Amino acid sequence: MENEKLKIEVIHSWSAPRSLSTSLMYSFAQRDDTEVFDEPLYANFLRVTGVERPYREELLSKMDADGDRVVKDVIFGAGDQKYRYCKHIAKQRVPGLTDDLMKRGKHFILIRNPLDILPSFEKVVPPSFVELGLAGLVSIYSELCELGKAPPVIDAADLQEDPEAVLRGLCEDLGIPFQEAMLKWEAGPKSVDGIWAPWWYDSVHKSTCFTSAREYPLTLPTSLYDLLEQSLPFYNMLRRNTRRISSITRSPLPTPSLPVPENEKILVWVGDEIVPRDTAKVSVFDSVVQGGDAVWEGLRVYSGKVFKLDEHLDRLFDSAKALAFINVPTRKEVTSGMSPGFNLYGCTLIVLAEWKPPVYDNTGGITLVTATTRRNSPNNLDSKIHHNNLLNNILAKVEGNLAKADDAIMLDKDGYVSETNATNIFLVKKGHVVTPHADYCLPGITRATVMDLVVKEDLVLQERRISLSEFHTADEVWTTGTMGELTPVSSI
Ligand SMILES: Cc1ncc(COP(=O)(O)O)c(C=O)c1O
Repeated sequence: MENEKLKIEVIHSWSAPRSLSTSLMYSFAQRDDTEVFDEPLYANFLRVTGVERPYREELLSKMDADGDRVVKDVIFGAGDQKYRYCKHIAKQRVPGLTDDLMKRGKHFILIRNPLDILPSFEKVVPPSFVELGLAGLVSIYSELCELGKAPPVIDAADLQEDPEAVLRGLCEDLGIPFQEAMLKWEAGPKSVDGIWAPWWYDSVHKSTCFTSAREYPLTLPTSLYDLLEQSLPFYNMLRRNTRRISSITRSPLPTPSLPVPENEKILVWVGDEIVPRDTAKVSVFDSVVQGGDAVWEGLRVYSGKVFKLDEHLDRLFDSAKALAFINVPTRKEVTSGMSPGFNLYGCTLIVLAEWKPPVYDNTGGITLVTATTRRNSPNNLDSKIHHNNLLNNILAKVEGNLAKADDAIMLDKDGYVSETNATNIFLVKKGHVVTPHADYCLPGITRATVMDLVVKEDLVLQERRISLSEFHTADEVWTTGTMGELTPVSSI
């Protein structure tokens, strides 16, 4: 009641430990209209959970441990500043605490990538799913949404990259004016610190502003991988609700506005799951991502019935069979269009760092068979584009597999050798090194490297049309490619 008279606006910050929440509290403490409270519900949390901390007894003797009373008299109690900023740690919202906590005041959520927290977490407490607190933050987020108060979400990484933009955005979302003073504070302990500060705040006491993240993040110990895997989906779910302020490498792509807004809330069948639109994703390990080996049909519904469904499905299954797909699912449907303009999501950068030994037997050599499938002509699909629609090559590879060869030679439209389904190809005849023009083959980087070396060694290099019989009668043949390196061909 008191504070209603003075019109104190309470701002609740919700975060997990080690998320820059204390820095953010210092930032708000710099304002001339705000008082800050450091984890007012900490004692209640220790009392209810019985959790041990080195400062447990001291804290219980100095702070009120009756949660409901703290909410009423401290958090929403009287005061003389316009705003009151309460820093809360997600797990301190223990069951049974009065509803008022969530119903009153303005809330926001501060998240941090568990990948940035986990490697140093152990210094303070043993890391666990509950200690990391991301599931707790998701439940706070959804509870606030249910109350019709979807909270702003900010990410510590964005705060480090562009503090001013994030703080301005947050203030705007909270409906309070931004103040420049929020960007700097004095080093050292503060009167607003909780009594646990000597255990936790060493590094934040050295800070005077939000500083950039480390250039090279700490390595995640393998023992923490499972925990990371369990926590990341919760972080990503919250991350999707942050304001997009920074560079494309940090922020996910903007959510497109859909031509048909009804499509926003649809369920999509992917693999063996029905999932909401946002989570409808194909694994980056699926060969469609690198090879484009997918088949598809667009279907239309008239008067509640799919038009020519059987014909579409027949074509779909025939296409899958022609591409030698295995484990083809039973008849399912998807719809989309072919124009790049229909891809509303922009480009998605995928970086896949995998260990991958050379893919061929580079000592014993490989066998090749000549495929009947011709290499794409620049008339149709220019080989100078390193695209991921590799169906042309995949069809040749299927032929190679059926002939029990390691790979297949592909010819151009006139019957000259272009390359194999996956590599460039060279021959040596009477000391001359010969390779096809890059008209029908990818101008491979390994190929170019070999050509440079041949020239440097003063050997004769010919780049020209080569017929199949020249390969059959060569003194030596090898293939080149990043994945396979240099591979001797033992027979064609
Ligand atoms: C069809 C084809 N040819 C040749 C190559 C070899 O090119 P690079 O040496 O650049 O790896 C590749 C590699 O992706 C390829 O897909």
